[in-house]
Formats: sequence, structure tokens, C-alpha cells
Amino acid sequence: MDSIHICGGYPLYGETKVQGSKNAVLPILAATVLVDGVTTLNNCPDIADVHCMVRLLESIGCVVEYGGGRIRVDAGHISKTRLPREYVTRMRSSVVMMGALLGRMGNVTISYPGGCVIGKRPIDMHLRAFVGLGIELEEAGDTLTARTKCLQGGCIPLAFPSVGATENSILAAVAAQGETQIYNAAREPEIDALCGFLRCAGADICRKGDGSIICVRGGQSLHSCCYHIPFDRIVAGTYLLGCMAAGGRICLKQADGRELTALAGVLEAMGGRLVYGEDSITLTAPERAQAVPCVRTAVYPGYPTDLQSQLVAALSLAEGESIVEETVFENRFRAVPELVKMGADIRTEGSRVTVRGVRALHGSQVRAMELRGGAALCMAALAAKGESRIMNRHFIDRGYEALEQDIRNLGGRI
Ligand code: EPZ
Repeated sequence: MDSIHICGGYPLYGETKVQGSKNAVLPILAATVLVDGVTTLNNCPDIADVHCMVRLLESIGCVVEYGGGRIRVDAGHISKTRLPREYVTRMRSSVVMMGALLGRMGNVTISYPGGCVIGKRPIDMHLRAFVGLGIELEEAGDTLTARTKCLQGGCIPLAFPSVGATENSILAAVAAQGETQIYNAAREPEIDALCGFLRCAGADICRKGDGSIICVRGGQSLHSCCYHIPFDRIVAGTYLLGCMAAGGRICLKQADGRELTALAGVLEAMGGRLVYGEDSITLTAPERAQAVPCVRTAVYPGYPTDLQSQLVAALSLAEGESIVEETVFENRFRAVPELVKMGADIRTEGSRVTVRGVRALHGSQVRAMELRGGAALCMAALAAKGESRIMNRHFIDRGYEALEQDIRNLGGRI
């Protein structure tokens, strides 16, 4: 059944291990194409987006073994450079395969990944970055071919610290002759995980200055390596906000609080108490959360857009009025109408929502429209009194490896 059933209204008590990061493993899987040999990745999440990326790797000639959180990629015999439309349109982050294939093969053909429900999500910055490395682009309908005789290092000034454009620039620059400087590069931890993997394979990459410049000395040949995927900070943040909504105390294992400082500030402003262990985070929720005057999403290290819907869900039950402003994507309040169905009092005005906390939400049948909004509905359902059913769970399966088991470990009834 494509739905999740939750019996809510009870505080959460328990602990669970946090899965490996979706947004780190996807670009790293693409980066394995640059290694003419075997790469082993540990702590990979078993999620739909990873399966999709594995299919893409196999479609160009990689041999992939996948099981028990370990993925082994043999990219010794890449034979194709055309990415199948089916997978590219299903998962837009397949666009980072462009940089990897350009780096390894010097050309790639891809159908435009298209937008999704949270926004148009163009790739203009990715393409401008490629041109900066001497790559020629050719469009035919919705198919794009990029090719180069010889990748030349250069200067890539990003108009916006786009995560994907930074990743694509790094992947192409690693194979380019000479040095590449990426200015206004994204600072998300997933970028550092990608750089960590590439350094492990022999690449010469570092951040410079205040961290907004990434310098790549290309042309090093990359060798087989083994790499551990870091924890998923968005999954961790999702569960912390679920606990703020439902109440109780939870402990997240294999989670590094240093990557969640913006969220921690908001949780403490809401009355939450955080304790950090060696590699764990424990949150004790207040009897009733306090509203926060205004939270604006921003690029890292600001408040993550991927935790915006989950915050709106938690604030729906807080005492007082809060404002949440979405500055990264243009249409990321898709969960709001469904939260209102559960009894939330939320007004949407353009890129901001005003949330007036209510005493209780009631269980309802609601629909997930995309990944993080769907996760937010699950967190709201844990707090809502009575039974909820969240439809279209396939959206949630794209990024949460074991939501049911995690929620059960935390004491939820799912
Ligand atoms: C990555 O998407 C993440 N996905 C997203 O997580 C995350 O929300 C986003 O970064 C921001 O942190 C993965 O890592 C797989 P961007 P990405 O390029 O790279 C605009 C999730 O739920 N833009 O930083 O696509 C774009 O439209 C997902 O796990 C351009 O205009 O994000 C958006 O408004 C959702 N032109 C903004 O920049 C471009 O060429 C940020 O996009 C590129 C981006």
C-alpha cells in the first residue's frame, strides 16, 4: 500500500541510528565514474534515489554490487555517455553525472532533468560552469550534449552557491588540465564529503579563504578507494523536529551536532534542550514548544531549506505566532494545505507562512506531494491526536531508508 499509518498523540521516547546521507552519497556515486577501477562506499542509505543512481551507473557500463549498506562500483569499462531519460527525469540530481562523464569521457548526452513540485530548478549555472572549462554545449529539443576535446582548468564564478552546480564544477575540474578556482562555492557538508571522497581517490582539492573558494588542481589520475558516507543531517533534523512536535526525549546515534547548528538554535528558541555526545544528539522537548518570531531558510550554514516543512509542522503546535520564510526554492510550502487539514492554522503569503500555534492537531488522511513535505506530514501525524494516513509514501522512500523502524525505535506508533 502506498501509504503510512500513524497513531499519534503520544510523546516520543527512544533512540535510533541515523542513516547515511542521501545528498552526500548521490554526488559521490557519480564521482566513482572518474575512478578507472573499483570504489567501495560504506554506510550508503538503501533509498529509491540511490537505486536510481545505481541504474544510471549501470546504464553507462559500470558494474555495481549493492547490499548491506555497501556499494561497490567498478567503473573500469565505461562504454556509453548517453544517460537514459527515464532515470534523469525521475531524479534531477542525476545532472551531476554530467560533470563525471565529461571528466572521464569528454562528452555526455542528457535530457533536461526538468523541475519538480518545489520549483523550476534550472541548470543554467551548471552549464555556465562547464563553458568556463572549455566545454561546448549543443541542444536538440530537450536533449543536451556537452563535449570537449580537452578539459582546461579555469575560473568559475557561481552567481549563487548552488549545491549541484558546485558539485558538477568539482567533478569536471578534477579531470581538467591545470587549476580551477570555483568562487561562491556552496558550503554544504555534502560538498565537503564529495571533496573528501575525491581526495581519498587521489585528487588535489581544497577550500580557500573564507571557505567560499574551492581550488582544484586537475589532471591527477584517481585510484580505487574505500569511503564511509557521513550521516544524513536532514533525516536527523526531521526526527528532532518530530520530537519537538510530539514531545518527549530522543537520542540520535551516529549524528554530528556540528552540522545542525542553525537547527539547534531554533530548537533551543522553541524551548528544546540539546545534549551532545561523542557522536550523538539528545533532545528533550518542552511540555509545549514556544513560537519563534521568524526563521528564514538560507544556504549553509543558514537554516536548511530541507528542514523548512518539518519546522512548519512543529511550529503548528507551538504557543504563539511564528513566521517562516523560504528563500531557496520558489514553491516549497506544499505540505501546508495538508497540515491545515490536520487542524493547523497557517497562512501562506508568497515566500512566507505565518503559523499560529494550536493546542492540538487531529489525525487525518493527507497526501505527500514531495519528499520533505511528506516527511513533515509524518512528524505532524506523530503529534496529532488519533490515526493519520499519509498517502504517496513513495515520495518519502526517496530519502528515508527505514522511516517505520526509526519511528518505532523512537517510540512512535507507525
Ligand atoms: C541540493 O539540490 C539538494 N539535493 C536539495 O535537497 C537541497 O534542497 C538543495 O541542494 C539546497 O540545499 C541534492 O543534493 C541531491 P541548488 P540542488 O542547486 O543542487 C536554483 C532534498 O530534499 N538554481 O543549491 O538542486 C535552484 O532552482 C533535496 O534532499 C538555479 O537557478 O540545489 C534553487 O532555487 C531537495 N540554477 C536554488 O538555486 C542552477 O543552475 C538552489 O538550488 C542551479 C540552481
